[in-house]
Amino acid sequence: MKILGIESSCDETAAAVVEDGKIVLTNVIASSTLMHRKYGGIVPEVAARKQVESIIPVLTEVMGVAASPGSDPTQGPTLNKSDIDAIAVTVGPGLIGSLLVGVETAKTLAFAWNKPIIPVNHVIAHMYANFISSQSRPKADQPMVEAVDSSQFKKTQNDLLQTANYKLPTFPAISLVVSGGHTELFLMTDGKTLKWLGGTLDDAAGEAFDKTARLLGFENRGGQAIQEAAQELINHNSPSSPSYLKVRGLGGVRLPRPLMDDSLNFSFSGLKTAILREVNKLKTMKQWNNQTINYLAYETQEAITDVLVAKTLKAAKQYKVKSVLISGGVAANTRLRQKFELSIINLPAGKQGSKRSINLLIPPVSLCTDNAVCIASYAYFHQNQQQSWKSITASPNMSVEI
Ligand code: KG4
Ligand code: ZN
Repeated sequence: MKILGIESSCDETAAAVVEDGKIVLTNVIASSTLMHRKYGGIVPEVAARKQVESIIPVLTEVMGVAASPGSDPTQGPTLNKSDIDAIAVTVGPGLIGSLLVGVETAKTLAFAWNKPIIPVNHVIAHMYANFISSQSRPKADQPMVEAVDSSQFKKTQNDLLQTANYKLPTFPAISLVVSGGHTELFLMTDGKTLKWLGGTLDDAAGEAFDKTARLLGFENRGGQAIQEAAQELINHNSPSSPSYLKVRGLGGVRLPRPLMDDSLNFSFSGLKTAILREVNKLKTMKQWNNQTINYLAYETQEAITDVLVAKTLKAAKQYKVKSVLISGGVAANTRLRQKFELSIINLPAGKQGSKRSINLLIPPVSLCTDNAVCIASYAYFHQNQQQSWKSITASPNMSVEI
């Protein structure tokens, strides 16, 4: 079954065709992220206008490329409307102006092509990036191109990779979706049955990265900028050295690890207040320099990732799961990926010393941030939610508490 997925909830315009929920046939993304940098954040009106400009070129591109993995897109269009069984579109949550562009386009296509639509919850769809077969995963584990105009699309259908250790999710599974607007934990009992277990009480983890990045002067490159600054600190200070954390008077700074209690909820809003205090202190002490900035970035990354790993593992133990699935933009974070890998390997043995074996699944970086591949994959596993185009509406405040 081939599903055309459309994603336009924020500042990415994306379309993809995915077969049987796991084989990526085509995947195109245009982003207006770079444009928003000069404003220090996403401007909804600007994002919506860019969606309008990009949606037709992105769809033309996605339908105009090869119908099977690995075939040459320059050979001309091989996918046409008769190949598509259904259309999947993000209906929420997201920015209303951006969402409407994808939703109305999907409805128009569904009407013109006489296809059903599967409405998709963007946050829940993120976790389906873990269902994509390694054979069709993008080779370069890099974020997709950030295109400021529709001529800068990046297609990944030629970049195919067979990853030897690719695992399929096994159930029950704990799924952590960690993005710019959401930090949610779900219990997954099969490919389509989900129960929401907890989420953030205030800021999302991605939001904490983004707000800290701005306090540290990194415009709005958010988590990626924090990751790079933290890495710079690590590169210049040997982790084995006792002075590793003692960067010019900052050695004693340890940011809080908020809400490390028994609940499966998160709270990240206090972090930015703590960081602001340190920033002000450093500026007063005339110690505001690259090294101290990098240190704060490092400690922010450590604090956020410590909490995400601890809560996810708490849920994994509580529900005795077979897999842990990580997804969303923050799952692109190298340190988070590393901490999950280490902590899953080091999980204590179960009762009577039986070996605990938990599958850890984290998508390639390009499928962590917003894309339409996971939208189409979600739809494959939720075909029972097919509707006529007439009943589809954008739902900016769509809940994830299912
Ligand atoms: O899933 P996503 O692309 O969009 C939403 O649905 O929100 O997530 C965007 C978030 C942003 O907060 C961004 O700062 C964060 O993902 N992010 C990262 C990294 N790359 C993107 N956070 C930490 N480390 C990264 N490398
Ligand atoms: Zn997202």
